[in-house]
Amino acid sequence: MKVIFVCLGNICRSPAAEAILKSMTKGIDISSRGIDGYHVGEAADRRMQEAAKKRGIHINTVATLLKLEEMLAADYILVATEKIARHLKERVPECKEKIFLISHWSEEYSGRDVPDPYYSSEESFDFVIEMLVESLEKFNKSISR
Ligand code: 4NP
Repeated sequence: MKVIFVCLGNICRSPAAEAILKSMTKGIDISSRGIDGYHVGEAADRRMQEAAKKRGIHINTVATLLKLEEMLAADYILVATEKIARHLKERVPECKEKIFLISHWSEEYSGRDVPDPYYSSEESFDFVIEMLVESLEKFNKSISR
């Protein structure tokens, strides 16, 4: 089973999602990618790393752009926002059925975008972690059945 998380820069939301799901499960190939090249090669944003550390989660990603072959090989492509979902579905229609919002399985946040924390406060990074933990617990349950 291959799961790819996708956000814009691959330095905040999708790296956190990758680290959180990795902390919940073994035996799944989990990675994260961005669709914008601005931060390629960079470690996750320090503020995101700090927010994750408060929950005992360590992020060790290097920002990388999403490639077509990776989309084709994935079982689930879990994206931070509707806008990214639309963009990817338009670009790669054959992957439509495996593209979902990260919040899709959530009880509390279903259907909501994971908000971009980049120009926001420390609290917004904490909120991203909270939303990801709850959403990914439910996702993990649904694929473990
Ligand atoms: P991410 O956050 O998509 O969660 O990695 C962002 C990182 C960088 C920028 C925007 C969002 N930026 O505008 O550079």
